[in-house]
Amino acid sequence: GLVNTKELFKKAFEGKYAIPAFNFNNMEQLQAIISACVEERSPVILQVSKGARAYANETLLRYMAQGAVEYAKELGYNIPIVLHLDHGDSFELCKACIESGFSSVMIDGSHLPYEENVALTRKVVEFAHAHDVTVEGELGVLAGVEDEVSAEHHTYTRPEEVEDFVKKTGVDSLAISIGTSHGANKFKPEQCTRNAEGRLVPPPLRFDILEEVEKRIPGFPIVLHGSSSVPQDDVDTINKYGGALKDAIGIPEEDLRHATTSAVCKINIDSDARLAMTAAVRQVFATKPAEFDPRKYLGPARDHMKALYTHKVKNVLGSAGKA
Ligand code: G3H
Ligand code: 13P
Ligand code: ZN
Ligand code: NA
Repeated sequence: GLVNTKELFKKAFEGKYAIPAFNFNNMEQLQAIISACVEERSPVILQVSKGARAYANETLLRYMAQGAVEYAKELGYNIPIVLHLDHGDSFELCKACIESGFSSVMIDGSHLPYEENVALTRKVVEFAHAHDVTVEGELGVLAGVEDEVSAEHHTYTRPEEVEDFVKKTGVDSLAISIGTSHGANKFKPEQCTRNAEGRLVPPPLRFDILEEVEKRIPGFPIVLHGSSSVPQDDVDTINKYGGALKDAIGIPEEDLRHATTSAVCKINIDSDARLAMTAAVRQVFATKPAEFDPRKYLGPARDHMKALYTHKVKNVLGSAGKA
């Protein structure tokens, strides 16, 4: 069955790697995630956002994730699979997911005043722990768009708050804000410098804040949201075949590799898979205009997403071989 994050984070912390948290919205994406992680022997966190629930239906997504446990075995290896609610925004939503079989939830009270975030998170933790479900909380706000909420600037996590927050709420992991953001436009070109090859290099993440956080809650699992790297090959493919992505810039994979050696135990990636899927579909539409069987474009999209997930667990997060 599905597992919670407890053991996975403990091992990830000790082994200095991070568990991948991949969002999913449809069957091809789930197949790509599971087949990549089975082949690489990587544990995986399947994330369902509020938007995903609205798009694909929560019940269907839940049965798909539960089915993925069987699917993994059929593919040849019983990897640990977590079903996690991404950016839960209310006690009621978290409760509904917990009661329906999610093994982990995030309660994102990061937009609330501190004491309200504490109270809401505490309430979710009490309910979740009674059901053996783990909880991710958040301190600090990422810039950019998150569901309906959008923030112009980063509100970096204040290290002086983390110990009190973790103690008062009882959360199992903590998402922090150190300069990542959601989506494919994480930095403006004018914030970046250029390297020798003329590629844009974004400003560094605030690893100093992460280090301060680690000092105050030693051994505690940290989560990085907004960790897509926005591969330029996919952006170029999309634009070559009629797309119009402008100034798409992500987090350098080197920064993510560095993060995995720290207390960061979970790294969230969604946008990179969206780009992979879009690039593959656009390529088929442009190069094989007579195709109209969805399997002929969703199949290549699935293959391309799988290659992305394989690359992430093997070459970036270090979770390959840890299942
Ligand atoms: O937090 C953002 C995730 O990428 C989920 O995005 O709310 O559009 O499904 P979504
Ligand atoms: P990206 O948009 O960088 O993929 O971040 C995903 C995320 O944080 C989901 O919670
Ligand atoms: Zn997120
Ligand atoms: Na780690």
